[in-house]
Amino acid sequence: MPIALVTGPTSGIGRAFALQLAARGLDIVLVARDAARLEALADNLRARFAVSVEVLVADLTDRDDLARVEARLLAAERPIHTLVNNAGFGAGTVFEAATPEQLDRMIALHVTAVTRLTHAALPGMRARRSGLVLTVASVAGLLPAMSTPPYGATKAYQVALMEGLAGTLVGSGVSVVAVCPGLTRTDFHQRAGLDLSRLPSVVWLSPHRVVSDALRAAARGVVISIPTKRYRYAIRAASLIPRGTSARIVRRGKPRG
Ligand SMILES: NC(=O)c1ccc[n+]([C@@H]2O[C@H](COP(=O)([O-])OP(=O)(O)OC[C@H]3O[C@@H](n4cnc5c(N)ncnc54)[C@H](OP(=O)(O)O)[C@@H]3O)[C@@H](O)[C@H]2O)c1
Repeated sequence: MPIALVTGPTSGIGRAFALQLAARGLDIVLVARDAARLEALADNLRARFAVSVEVLVADLTDRDDLARVEARLLAAERPIHTLVNNAGFGAGTVFEAATPEQLDRMIALHVTAVTRLTHAALPGMRARRSGLVLTVASVAGLLPAMSTPPYGATKAYQVALMEGLAGTLVGSGVSVVAVCPGLTRTDFHQRAGLDLSRLPSVVWLSPHRVVSDALRAAARGVVISIPTKRYRYAIRAASLIPRGTSARIVRRGKPRG
């Protein structure tokens, strides 16, 4: 049975990936920090889908923990067919108010961990001529000027990494996808200390929809997946605005300081 390794499956989009991949019959490796939530999800997947599930408790911003997850991806025994780089978090503060440690953690999780895990996964996939890497970036990665730094900048890095790798993997049997969801109902905003409760329901996506669109896009060989038509049209329209102009619009829309 092919095996998928999913980072950040204890809630939200990562949990939906674990559920949908297990429902397709893939065995699953779950990676996050919260051991109790990981074990509860593992039991749930085993009971519902009769798949085999491994749990790796790891903080991907910690060098030693990251090395353990890399080692799992490099293992020739029970090789990983699908890597889902999903773990991430938002910062509820403006750039200048973030502590150096908060900045380091975001770069470690969104940039270093995604790069290193993908780097560990690809050689085996290439040798087997079969594999898939999905990285959950964001619409913020397509329009970083309209997002809070450094979140949008780290997500732009993820999109650029997947796009760059896609070119090197043509004809290899391995594909990569940058999944770019818009606002999705998960624990993300509450954890970041953001209150978006006044936004209309039309802007919100479900984690299930994000994942089913992403898996459909992967099957079609799409490199940048923007779940739902409404977000695809919105991003296309916003991309027509010149970069300098969009930065000015954002500056005008924000309170001074
Ligand atoms: N929600 C949105 O509106 C939205 C929109 C666009 C993109 N995204 C992206 O989607 C991805 C998933 O976010 P979500 O919305 O599903 O948020 P979420 O519900 O808060 O889930 C985040 C997941 O990441 C894990 N995680 C966080 N820090 C980690 C670390 N240091 N090491 C290992 N795992 C860690 C968490 O698990 P533990 O706490 O157990 O470690 C959790 O399972 C993120 O990359 C986010 O940037 C979200």
